[in-house]
Amino acid sequence: MIIKGNFIYTPSLDQMVIRKNEYLVVEDGKVKTFYKALPPKYQTETVIDHTDALIIPAFNDLHIHAPQYINRGIGFDKELLPWLETYTFPMEAKYKDMDFADRSYRLFLHRLWENGTLRFSAFATLHKEATWRLMELCERSGLKAWIGKVNMDRNSPDYLCEDTSQSLQDTEELIQKVTTLQNVNYIITPRFVPSTTEALMRGLGELVKKYDLPVQSHLSENKSEIAWVKELHPNIPTYTEVYEAFGLMPKGKTIMAHCIHLSEPEKAILKERDVMMCHCAQSNADLSSGIMPLKENLDLGLRCCIASDIAGSHTPDMNRHIALSIELSKIYHMQHPEVKAITLPQALFLATKQSGSFFGKVGSFEAGYAFDALVIETEEMPGFLQREPFEKLEQFIYDGKASNILERYVEGKKIPCPFGQSVIF
Ligand code: GUN
Ligand code: FE
Repeated sequence: MIIKGNFIYTPSLDQMVIRKNEYLVVEDGKVKTFYKALPPKYQTETVIDHTDALIIPAFNDLHIHAPQYINRGIGFDKELLPWLETYTFPMEAKYKDMDFADRSYRLFLHRLWENGTLRFSAFATLHKEATWRLMELCERSGLKAWIGKVNMDRNSPDYLCEDTSQSLQDTEELIQKVTTLQNVNYIITPRFVPSTTEALMRGLGELVKKYDLPVQSHLSENKSEIAWVKELHPNIPTYTEVYEAFGLMPKGKTIMAHCIHLSEPEKAILKERDVMMCHCAQSNADLSSGIMPLKENLDLGLRCCIASDIAGSHTPDMNRHIALSIELSKIYHMQHPEVKAITLPQALFLATKQSGSFFGKVGSFEAGYAFDALVIETEEMPGFLQREPFEKLEQFIYDGKASNILERYVEGKKIPCPFGQSVIF
């Protein structure tokens, strides 16, 4: 495949490449070579011509709650713990109804596709059947994902609480079943420390080892939550060390969401374990959780990315999360002048190549990377005003919408609108 356009990508936190009006050869779904002029050997091949458009790596969202999508924007009068009790647990309980789950998960996947999140790592609910349906629908959509059934066996309402051994059994069943799919892999998903007993955490740690699986959970999001973890585990010095104690921090294969109020010793552990720390800027504001010191963490060499945490946030669209991460970083800079704010290219890196690293060589257009891409056009006054590629990127990040995305590619394959007419609005 040969595609022509204006490519922008970020090989590192401090490097952005702009290739204006170039040709890209994609082979076996992977980026091969860029050319300013097409060599004679390719002259007979068809070129997908997007001469004026912007082409960027597709977004990867490493922290998203699929069942909560339908609740986005609701309940931000409360902070985390009462928000869970009042709005989130009752919604997640509805996924015992498979018709509800099927419809809601189609809407979720359609929205991710629409706005350019083509790979993600999702929490489902504790329900085995509904989680399997999400996995099957994701497989059909062409999007790629890590998906986990949520594990929760304490401090949860009766209508959304598991028996410990049943939880482990259901998890193992899904771990085995998902190996039949191409686009979905299993990720162990304890909800967070307060909702999982020691026995459950220990059992999940054993599954991590037995099947060599990654883990996703929440860490240090809210001050009441942190105090509760201290009460529940008085003999473990920090929240971070609880996950570590139960084998739930496999090196280089752990995603922890929020990571706002961390101590220095905790940061040292997260660095040593190479944990992917998800900066969920919008959720942290909507639920009054705090502002993660993103730039300080990056300067310490911590592995941070930008994620949505829908429905702790109000939109799954990653361009919004990139913009808000920059805005919050500027506010943080105003309060701490010695810490620089992050830039747009840096934030783009955090939502593409950095988060993509959880899937392998994904999130950049360097040679050998999967060609996951969004073809974007933001021109509002063609013939009157011609924007530079970087200006188009800026406008798409700050005010772009689904209709600006002309095409979506995953591993060199064009991904059509998933489910067609079965998603009716
Ligand atoms: N901590 C435990 N569960 C949740 C959840 O569903 N969302 C967020 N933001 N934090 C959590
Ligand atoms: Fe979350």
